[in-house]
Amino acid sequence: MKDMLVRLMDLPDIADLEANLKKENIIIRRPIPPEKSLVADWVDKEFGMYWKNEVEAAFSRLPVHCFIAQRENEILGFACFETTAKNFFGPTGTLEKMRGKGIGKILLVKSLEAMKSMGYAYAIIGGVGPAAFYENVVNAKIIEGSDISIYQNLLRKSP
Ligand SMILES: CC(C)(COP(=O)(O)OP(=O)(O)OC[C@H]1O[C@@H](n2cnc3c(N)ncnc32)[C@H](O)[C@@H]1OP(=O)(O)O)[C@@H](O)C(=O)NCCC(=O)NCCS
Repeated sequence: MKDMLVRLMDLPDIADLEANLKKENIIIRRPIPPEKSLVADWVDKEFGMYWKNEVEAAFSRLPVHCFIAQRENEILGFACFETTAKNFFGPTGTLEKMRGKGIGKILLVKSLEAMKSMGYAYAIIGGVGPAAFYENVVNAKIIEGSDISIYQNLLRKSP
């Protein structure tokens, strides 16, 4: 897994995409602390323990370092930032049946806009994943030599 670098000065406009999803009753917003266990349990169920733990770290910040996609009472996707290291984006995921509608793109861009407003000029996508997605949406570039990363000695759950 490599890391990728994103320039935050030229983020794409997501207004039309967001307006289209709103017509389907899908909104993308920052969750608030009373929702922590609901969001974390959903991420645990859909994406596993590591990402759940990172979501919990996101809820230790205010405003919460996370965005969710939501339709009525259902969570459809999530994205976090600065939950593994400073200046890192991720993890993120869209419910399988909801992929390809622009949810991942909006979650990514909104998170990067939040990081830009924190004062960063660049962001790092930690340990990708679908490099083509990040390249396509925000022109992210692989960081050469980043195979040995912050995840290098990650503890694994015993079988
Ligand atoms: C990666 C992921 C978050 C994308 O979510 P999504 O809601 O389907 O993404 P979008 O619909 O917003 O896609 C935006 C664009 O990226 C493209 N895209 C989506 N997934 C892609 C992939 N895996 N590879 C290349 N391009 C991809 C879409 O075709 C779309 O292109 P377009 O704007 O030209 O039409 C989703 O596939 C996912 O949850 N994957 C499993 C978890 C994961 O790998 N997370 C990333 C960890 S680093």
